[in-house]
Amino acid sequence: MNRKIIIFDTTLRDGEQAPGCSMNLQEKLEVAKRLELLGVDVMEAGFPVSSPGDLEAVKAIAGIIKNSAVAGLCRCVEKDIDAAREALSSAASPRVHVFLATSPIHMEYKLKMTPDQVLAQAAASVKYARKFCSDVEFSAEDAFRSDPDFVCKVFGAAIAAGAKTVNFPDTVGYAMPGEFGGRIKYIKEHTPGMEKAKLSVHCHNDLGLAVANSLAAIEAGADQAECTVNGIGERAGNASLEEIVMTLRVRKDYLKADTGIDTTQIYTASRLVSQVTGVKVQPNKAVVGDNAFAHEAGIHQHGVLVNRATYEIMTPESIGIPKNRMVLGKHSGKHALEDRLKDMGFSVDAKTLGIIFSQFKDLADKKKAVSDRDIEALVMGAAAAVPETWKLDDWAVNTGSALGASGTIRLKHKDGATQKEVSMGDGPVDSIFKAINNIVGKEPELELYEIGAITGGSSSQGETMVKICWDGRHYNGRGVSTDIVESSIKAYISAINAMEWELAAQKPEQEG
Ligand code: KIV
Ligand code: ZN
Repeated sequence: MNRKIIIFDTTLRDGEQAPGCSMNLQEKLEVAKRLELLGVDVMEAGFPVSSPGDLEAVKAIAGIIKNSAVAGLCRCVEKDIDAAREALSSAASPRVHVFLATSPIHMEYKLKMTPDQVLAQAAASVKYARKFCSDVEFSAEDAFRSDPDFVCKVFGAAIAAGAKTVNFPDTVGYAMPGEFGGRIKYIKEHTPGMEKAKLSVHCHNDLGLAVANSLAAIEAGADQAECTVNGIGERAGNASLEEIVMTLRVRKDYLKADTGIDTTQIYTASRLVSQVTGVKVQPNKAVVGDNAFAHEAGIHQHGVLVNRATYEIMTPESIGIPKNRMVLGKHSGKHALEDRLKDMGFSVDAKTLGIIFSQFKDLADKKKAVSDRDIEALVMGAAAAVPETWKLDDWAVNTGSALGASGTIRLKHKDGATQKEVSMGDGPVDSIFKAINNIVGKEPELELYEIGAITGGSSSQGETMVKICWDGRHYNGRGVSTDIVESSIKAYISAINAMEWELAAQKPEQEG
């Protein structure tokens, strides 16, 4: 009988706090829904006290998620725990996650606390959180660089105060797998009351060992693994959920452990996180990279054609990669599209289906055959879309080598008015972006502009990702079109809409 490993996903907290990975509320809700479909046991939705936006996001996620526990992170201080209490008040299964550093370097320089003070504060915070939440997790930040006996003592005190899970992070990604497994065994054997709580691990990837360390810990008896989709997270990231889960699935014969994850949801979860954060998955990334199931060498191709298992240890279908069938065209109806979406693992409401269908019709007019990747791009675009303050009405560019470029744009405001602007620029995209800025009346900094093709061939759709920064806040936008200038315009407008939406949401607070 395989042990069940608890999957604690922190894409929305540790992942989201990484530079360039921020998500707006709408995007966080979409990711949370995907994580629930994936079947994560716990999702850490944010750090409620860190900002009003984070508190609102945790609250909104707690309000819709029914099948996963929802966790809120807190330092070991009462005001953090009070914020988590408020944010998690409507959660079906709330978890309060408190953390305090235990390593000599963190205690001396960051906390300026003695070990005895840390011990007392950890226990007191767990006790405080337990007053309103039965599921409390305690993390010893930088546990791996801490004195193991001190961690055992702190964990023991946390468990005695009511912690149901104690988490052992390798916060700076310093451990080696064998060493980490040995440490977990030691902690399990020497923590007083360990039999009353689950032991968790949380590994960072600074040396590329986060997944290996998590698996070594599982082999040594850890009950829970903390991880993120695509391994996003602070610095080099966290342990990747898909790699841990698929290793456990493929090698359960050896590890004698598995998870409750529906692996066929992995691919869409990975794509969604990449789309909403604008952080691309490297092509050779294990499990979800574009090349993970590609076979280039002739000898490999021959083997795979005869029997896939010659060079594949898992199937693309097992992680939900849709077969790229050329199924739909301009005569396909809404039902055909809906059926295809279901086959691909997407369930969309009637309104979203209507939006996707009209975009699909436009696309089918331009392309002979619409592939699954094209459809997926439409779904991803619709899923996390914020309300449109500005809508693209029309555009034109004029460009040359010496004379530079001019761009003309006409946008429609949600109030109904249309505005037109013309601007010169350094190339067609720059000129159009400047014209858009003139209409919007703001000049955000363009932090990232990336363009790629969704499928091969010259009729492929261009997919553009942009990141803009305004007033210290970062906004992502994504656009898809058979014309690369238009996909750039759509991406820029979607980032502008994300900015306008957030600014509008802040207004009543500032005025009130
Ligand atoms: O890396 C870390 O130590 C953390 C803790 C807050 C769990 O993210
Ligand atoms: Zn972390």
